[in-house]
Amino acid sequence: MALLDKHKIIEKNATLLLVGSFLVVTVGGIVEIVPLFYLENTIEKVEGMRPYSPLELAGRNIYVREGCYTCHSQMIRPFRDEVERYGHYSLAAESMYDHSFQWGSKRTGPDLARVGGRYSNEWHVDHLIEPRSVVPESVMPSYAFLKDTPLEINDFSTELIANQRVGVPYTEEMVLNANADIRAQADPNADTSGLEERYPKAVLGDFDGNPNALTEMDALIAYLQMLGTLVDFSTYDETAGYR
Ligand code: HEC
Repeated sequence: MALLDKHKIIEKNATLLLVGSFLVVTVGGIVEIVPLFYLENTIEKVEGMRPYSPLELAGRNIYVREGCYTCHSQMIRPFRDEVERYGHYSLAAESMYDHSFQWGSKRTGPDLARVGGRYSNEWHVDHLIEPRSVVPESVMPSYAFLKDTPLEINDFSTELIANQRVGVPYTEEMVLNANADIRAQADPNADTSGLEERYPKAVLGDFDGNPNALTEMDALIAYLQMLGTLVDFSTYDETAGYR
């Protein structure tokens, strides 16, 4: 019997086809999944990545709470049109401290993976209060209330500890200083030497245009200004992972 005829037996018998398909998927699944349990890390380590500063983390929580991800992705795909518009394609390592990740595929607005440093704080304030004041054709909703909403901190160290539990390498020192760091990052008069050592490249100063109040707007803009800025792509070696 030719091979083709043998295969017809399987194709004509639903039970046999089901059992056969199940076997193929099982073997394929095992081959793909089992090696992952023996790898120490599936994400290439990249210089510059660090856990989010407490203020950035608070901003990230607001980003998630407000559902910004329903219109914005944070993943630049390795295609020419995307790289020319947004910058270097996203690396897995760049979202390794995101719980949960914000990659997304829905883009009503632009990708935000590298929006950090692209606009001034003032631009973000104007844009979040009334998007159409800076981009007349925008369909983005207004988030003006963030500027009037004080940032609730309580004991922010618990946020760091929660992230620590899922693998973010916050040190004890970071946890102990969480409440002080969150205030210092948005306070132009604060001593930020410890903060800068713990969180290199953190953008400092007043974000929302009101240095006397720590608001949700401060936190959200601190987060936006950090996005995509941690890895220095002038020194990043793309081929390092393939050697
Ligand atoms: C209903 C969809 C929608 C939601 C929700 C939304 N945006 Fe937007 N966003 C847009 C659109 C459309 C644009 C492009 C026009 C503009 O710049 O306003 C945009 C632009 C932006 C830009 C400028 C990006 C660039 O590269 O020019 C930023 C920053 C931004 N949004 C942040 C946010 C944040 C933060 C939130 C959540 C608080 C949010 N957006 C929620 C639709 C949305």
